[in-house]
Amino acid sequence: MIFLCSFIFLFTRTFPKTFQGPHASKGNLNLYNSSIRVLCNANSSEGFDPQKDVSLPEINLRNGKMPANLLSPPPLSSPRLHLAFFAGGVHGPIRPILLNQWKGQDPDLQVHDYLPKGLDYYSFMLASKYCLCPSGYEVASPRIVEAVYSECVPVIISDHYVLPFSDVLRWEAFSIQVKVSEIGELKRILTSVPEKEYLRLKENLRAVRRHFVLNQPAERFDVFHMILHSVWLRRLNLKVD
Ligand SMILES: *[C@@H]1O[C@H](CO)[C@@H](O)[C@H](O)[C@H]1NC(C)=O
Ligand SMILES: *[C@@H]1O[C@H](CO)[C@@H](O)[C@H](O)[C@H]1NC(C)=O
Repeated sequence: MIFLCSFIFLFTRTFPKTFQGPHASKGNLNLYNSSIRVLCNANSSEGFDPQKDVSLPEINLRNGKMPANLLSPPPLSSPRLHLAFFAGGVHGPIRPILLNQWKGQDPDLQVHDYLPKGLDYYSFMLASKYCLCPSGYEVASPRIVEAVYSECVPVIISDHYVLPFSDVLRWEAFSIQVKVSEIGELKRILTSVPEKEYLRLKENLRAVRRHFVLNQPAERFDVFHMILHSVWLRRLNLKVD
């Protein structure tokens, strides 16, 4: 799966016009129409077809591994210092809106571009109730999977993103979706989630976590099997003439 993301990246660099994310394989229309494409950048308004194509979770491995402090999140009951957290590059259409509204505006919403030196990105995720996941250049972002690992409820802010495994996982049970037009309302939206509901989201996150875990070798129900399952489901939708 990582391989597929970097595979597409590789082709994007080599053939900038023909192989960009959802446009992958457009150079060969037969292939484009009749293959199950497995893509990170599952942008349904750029040719990603949820009936036929598979949305691949983007996982950022540093030195080939998930960061060690994400492997064992704190107990469910331990308090989280910040209401919400985001840090990252300000690119794509959505992040500038988020940063303009919230950067340095409210200590409850820790919204940064790049974190100041000495502060640790993952420690922030582990200390926040909600992790903001706005699309950047692409609809997908590795911080969604990192939020799942840190049991920091993902707040997905994106347009036209077909979420991974959405045939079998009810994302609304473990994440919150906020429309781009509601970014100004973020604090109100997050503080109005009742504590009981927040705890339910967090428990569900813990339950779905294993579906995003990468094991070597693969284990039952882990991310590798989830991807194969998504591909398998779609064979029924594919008409090959
Ligand atoms: C691929 O699908 C598009 C849209 O459905 C259609 O217009 C086009 O003719 C198809 N091309 C091939 C080669 O099947
Ligand atoms: C998704 O596709 C639409 C249509 O091409 C585009 O306007 C939008 O910027 C894309 N989203 C991202 C995050 O790339």
